[in-house]
Amino acid sequence: MIRNNTIIWGVSGGIAIYKSLDAISSLKKMGYQIHVVMTNNATKFISPVTFASISQNPVLIDTFEEPMAHISLAEKVDLFIIAPASYNIIGKIAHGIADDLLTTISAVVTCRKLIAPAMNSHMYENPILQNNLKKLKENNYQIIEPESGILACGYEGIGRLRNTEDILNIITNGNIPSEKQLPQIYAGKHILITAGGTQEPIDPVRYIGNHSSGKMGIALAKAARDMGAKVTLIHANIKTHLPKNISSIKIQTAEDMLNALKETINQVDILLMSAAVSDYRMNHISSTKIKKNNNPISLQLTENPDILKSLIKFKKPGQFFIGFSAESNDLIENAKIKLEQKKLDAIIANDISKKDIGFNSDYNAVTILFSNNHQIDIPSKPKYDIGIDLLNHIHNTFYKKNVE
Ligand SMILES: Cc1cc2nc3c(=O)[nH]c(=O)nc-3n(C[C@H](O)[C@H](O)[C@H](O)COP(=O)(O)O)c2cc1C
Repeated sequence: MIRNNTIIWGVSGGIAIYKSLDAISSLKKMGYQIHVVMTNNATKFISPVTFASISQNPVLIDTFEEPMAHISLAEKVDLFIIAPASYNIIGKIAHGIADDLLTTISAVVTCRKLIAPAMNSHMYENPILQNNLKKLKENNYQIIEPESGILACGYEGIGRLRNTEDILNIITNGNIPSEKQLPQIYAGKHILITAGGTQEPIDPVRYIGNHSSGKMGIALAKAARDMGAKVTLIHANIKTHLPKNISSIKIQTAEDMLNALKETINQVDILLMSAAVSDYRMNHISSTKIKKNNNPISLQLTENPDILKSLIKFKKPGQFFIGFSAESNDLIENAKIKLEQKKLDAIIANDISKKDIGFNSDYNAVTILFSNNHQIDIPSKPKYDIGIDLLNHIHNTFYKKNVE
């Protein structure tokens, strides 16, 4: 698992190279520092300028251009990945060849190492390649196995670079969530999740917003999906990629969110309200950009409706509404007040004053307070794992109890 956030992303000469741009762009949005190292052959597929723009760091190719870069860079990284990894580069690393910057860095790094092969299926099934992958595994490389499907060369078979979502999950959570691994306890249930932070326009260029990245809501959506639920995600200004196989509705303001919820709430079993909703909006949104005039200005704000309080009148028997309470002080006391005032079934209290968890972090630590006064602490762990724990506790409290 990756706690710090500096990655060396190696790319070699394969047709799947374009897919790495999407993954790097998503990781940048999540706050990772990415240093792209290309082989010479990789630059024939995509220009280094494209990788430099997406990663917002210079791209390194030549061992001799910046002497000792291989050592200084290798020392500061938390994760080393080559995606796509060609037949050639896998062979070179497996045999200790270091004849370019990328293979030289691979010989120096001591952090977690990932290799994502991508090639024609005959190349992938070639026993020489398979032996080389085995050798890499024995030497602490985690292999991100390719997928089967139609390949760029027209063949159908194994060899396609693993999809971006799985690669991102392996990087950020250390594992690949899979339906096979998790008990399908939510099969037949529909879970509605809100994620991200609403924005209230001030004028055509400015808005009132908050620091929510949406990572917790997205992690919950993935966990719910992987535990068998049908998932709908209402998201506002999220800074991460959307998971596959869920329905999503993009909104901007608190009012948009309330309207989207009113339209969907009737169809769901559980509502998990993890979005950070703006408490206020402008009395009047200026249709033109507000100009600077050297005088103080004041903005007139109106309180937004409380979404959970507004929804409670639509709640049907058998539905469960769960809120989130992001607090910087008196965490449990404030969460308890919200639980009672909003008539929720549970509230998840989240301490946003701690830098290593909460907003923008890949980690979180929460306390669940149920309406029956039962309280459960979940210590710091990746947000996806928090999501699984939360959903297990919710299931044990609301569903198992009813069945037994
Ligand atoms: C159009 C084209 C597509 C290629 N696609 C792949 C590929 O997907 N996987 C692979 O291993 N090699 C592929 N190759 C061959 C590699 O580019 C070649 O083996 C090269 O030597 C790899 O160099 P590198 O590992 O230093 O980047 C392709 C070559 C061409 C011309």
